[in-house]
Amino acid sequence: MENMDEAVLKELAEKGEIANSLEFMKAHKFEPKTFDGILKSLLVDNYVVLTNHDLEEIDLTEEGAKAIASGSPEFRLVSMFKPGEEKTRADLAKLMAKDELQIAVNKAMQNKWISSSKTAVKRVAEDVKDEVVQRLTAMKADNDPKKHEAKLVQELKKRKLIAIKKIKFYGIVKGASYQPKRVPEVADLTAEMLSKGTWEGVKFKKFNVAAKGKEISTGNYHPLYQMKDEFRSILLELGFEEMPTSYYVDSSFWDFDALYTAQQHPARDMQDTFFLTEPANCNRIPKELCENVKRAHEGGSYGSIGYRYDWKMDEAKKNVMRTHTTPCSARMLYELAQTTAKTGVFTPKKYFSIDRVFRNEATDVTHLFEFHQVEGMIADYNLSLKNLMGIIAEFFKRLGISDIKFKPAYNPYTEPSMEIFGYNQELKRIVEIGNSGIFRPEMLQALGLPEKVSVIAWGLSLERPAMIHYKVGNIRDLIGHQVPLKFMKTNPVFCLP
Ligand code: PHE
Repeated sequence: MENMDEAVLKELAEKGEIANSLEFMKAHKFEPKTFDGILKSLLVDNYVVLTNHDLEEIDLTEEGAKAIASGSPEFRLVSMFKPGEEKTRADLAKLMAKDELQIAVNKAMQNKWISSSKTAVKRVAEDVKDEVVQRLTAMKADNDPKKHEAKLVQELKKRKLIAIKKIKFYGIVKGASYQPKRVPEVADLTAEMLSKGTWEGVKFKKFNVAAKGKEISTGNYHPLYQMKDEFRSILLELGFEEMPTSYYVDSSFWDFDALYTAQQHPARDMQDTFFLTEPANCNRIPKELCENVKRAHEGGSYGSIGYRYDWKMDEAKKNVMRTHTTPCSARMLYELAQTTAKTGVFTPKKYFSIDRVFRNEATDVTHLFEFHQVEGMIADYNLSLKNLMGIIAEFFKRLGISDIKFKPAYNPYTEPSMEIFGYNQELKRIVEIGNSGIFRPEMLQALGLPEKVSVIAWGLSLERPAMIHYKVGNIRDLIGHQVPLKFMKTNPVFCLP
């Protein structure tokens, strides 16, 4: 096979230019893709300069080719009549296929070749000439649409007898580094070239710094987890320690009872909570703690009158998918109380966690039955609501949310309780971003903490700020099995302001 580089360079040496790359390619029987590659590489090395051209060509359709071979439908129809002859419509239907017959009758009428009534068709013209075929033949002979009357081209195109094809080609002239023969470029400088001095005569390939690297297919860190890491660093910087949270299944005792949530509380309904069927119950609840919690609920201890009902162990034993991470905080406080009792010394603590929680609720674009909760708490003497508001403001300030507002709220385990609101730039309105409060003495003292110790705490979802940050309108695009892989692969590394 003829060398493509050489053929192009030789033609340029002889004629100065190649006006139409396509014709040149056809004349030399070059394969289009390879030839295009060769042209691009000659262009990159400045051997040639390419100019883009567009060209339109008439292409006969299958229908058009058929017409040339056996006549246009109208001509074939009329040819089946003698001049003056009449045929009924029923007879006509036997002559041609329905679609074709309709076109043929319409066109023959337009040409005044036939006249038609409701029931019959009559040939009225003596001589008929198949002009459509004449035109198609002319277009086949010269397929440049500009050489034919535009109206005729349009008409035949409309009848789908021809199509207009767009052809792209190049004009080729010599480039700044043109040479009649291509000097092969060498990619690597070798020790031999250096020792023999042959490097001097060699043309080296230029580095193509604009070349795209190979796409690397790797695992990607999920954007939600990038956000989790950012939250984590902020809390670590603020001096919080991470709590263990790695149990998704917990007893109702820790999820509700230890958090001073009455056994009739609506949150403990099947509508809101996933209860486990296997194993349905937990049998590892500390006995003494159980007694304390029972007393707190029923009343008459820790300076409280309680809820005044019969607390039932059976209810507390029921296993659930944890509905929040606050039971993890309760376990930590219980541990802290035990250490305090053992050592006689209470050590103030700041704890946080970020992990998954589960709720049995209807899903929509902002709700899923599993999501992440960010939980924080501080246990110390003399903590007030002011301390709680202060630490929350500082935490959100570091997240880039400065204008936060508090609204009184209710939680069974905190008093006072406050919902936290922040201004969302995207939505241009205030949205709820968290919940907080001071843990009730009924809860803390049942866990065994010294009377004077207070615990301030707050919790928020990880998904809500993440949706705002990544501009994700549907929570299912952020977490769960429907997350598009592209979202993970193309997301820039998340950085807080
Ligand atoms: N557990 C609460 C929730 O699920 C958050 C919270 C944590 C509220 C700690 C107050 C104190 O929304």
